[in-house]
Amino acid sequence: MMKATAVANSNIALVKYWGKRDEKLILPWNSNISVALDGLFTKTTVEFDRALPKDMFILGGVEQEGEEAQRVLETLDLIRQMSGSNLKAKVQSLNSFPTAAGLASSASGAAALVLAASAAAGLKLSKKELSILARRNSGSGSRSVEGGFVEWIKGEKADGSDSYGKQLFDEKHWPEFRILTTIVTSKAKPIKSRAGMKQSVATSPLYKGWLESVEADLQAVREGIKKKDVTKVGEAAEHNALKMHAVMMSTKPAIIYWLPETIAVMSAVKGLRESGKKCWFTMDAGPQVKVVCLESEAQAIKGALEKVPGVSSVGTHAPGRGAKLTEEHVF
Ligand code: PMV
Repeated sequence: MMKATAVANSNIALVKYWGKRDEKLILPWNSNISVALDGLFTKTTVEFDRALPKDMFILGGVEQEGEEAQRVLETLDLIRQMSGSNLKAKVQSLNSFPTAAGLASSASGAAALVLAASAAAGLKLSKKELSILARRNSGSGSRSVEGGFVEWIKGEKADGSDSYGKQLFDEKHWPEFRILTTIVTSKAKPIKSRAGMKQSVATSPLYKGWLESVEADLQAVREGIKKKDVTKVGEAAEHNALKMHAVMMSTKPAIIYWLPETIAVMSAVKGLRESGKKCWFTMDAGPQVKVVCLESEAQAIKGALEKVPGVSSVGTHAPGRGAKLTEEHVF
C-alpha cells in the first residue's frame, strides 16, 4: 500500500505542556494530561509516489509553504528513514473545524499525519512509536494518537524514547465528561506556542514555580478522572491553566493571549459556578476559552455562554477516540 488515510481527534490539556527540555526532539519539562475531543478532527491522506519530484502538503485545499510544510516534510523524512524508502509524498489534510477559529489543529494534524504516512509506507507501528513520531511534529500531537484521557509522560532519557502519550482511561470510561469550546469574534495575534514557550523557559521568573507545583496538579487530575470527580478535575485544570498564563505573562517580552472577551467568558464561568453549576475554564495559546463540565449541565452552560457579548459560537465535545485508519481518502 502506498496510500493511506487517517483521522485523529484534537485534544485539550487539563494539565498543560509549556516548555521543552530538548528543542529538537521536543521533550517537555513536565508531564501533562489531556482529553481527546470528539468531533474536532483532522483527516489526512498520504501517498508516496515515484512520479513526485518533491513532497507536497495541502491543507484545506491550499498548498502550504514555509514552516508548516517544513514540519510535515521532517516527519515524512523520519518515516522514510524507518521504512528505507526515498519516495516523495503528497499529503492532503482537512480539518473538521475552521483553522482560523483558533482551536489548536496541530495535535490532530500531527497524529493523523504519522498514522497515515506510516501506513502508506508499509510500516506497522505501535501506539507508543506513533506517539513519539507525532511528538516530534508537534508536542501536543503525542497525546492525539490514543483516545480518551492521555498523559504525555515527560520521560527521562536524552533520546526521547520514553517520552510519549500513554492512555490513562479510554473514551468509554467517563462518557458524561464534556468540554465546551467558546469561539470569540475578535482576532488575536498570538505568538506561536513553539516560540512562546522557549521564551518563557528562558525568561519567566515563575517558570521554576510552575515546574515545582505541576506534580500536585497531575495527581489531582489523574485521581479526579479515575473517580469521575468533575470538581476535582475542573478545579485542578483551571488552576493549572491560570498558572501557565501567569508564566506566559511574566515572560520577557510578555505573552498575553487573552482578549477582553476571554476575560468575559472566564467571569461568566465563575458566575455560573457561583449559581451552582459545575463548570471550570481552561485556555491555551490563544483567546478561546474551553470549559470543563458534565453532559447533564452542558446545554444550560452552553446557552449562558452564547449570550456573553463577543462569543460567536460554543461547541460541545465528549471524550473522543484515538487515531484510526479509514478507507475514505481525501484524494
Ligand atoms: O504542541 P504545541 O506546540 O501545539 O503546544 C501546545 C501548548 C498548549 O496548547 C498551550 C498546552 C498544551 O498542553 O496543549
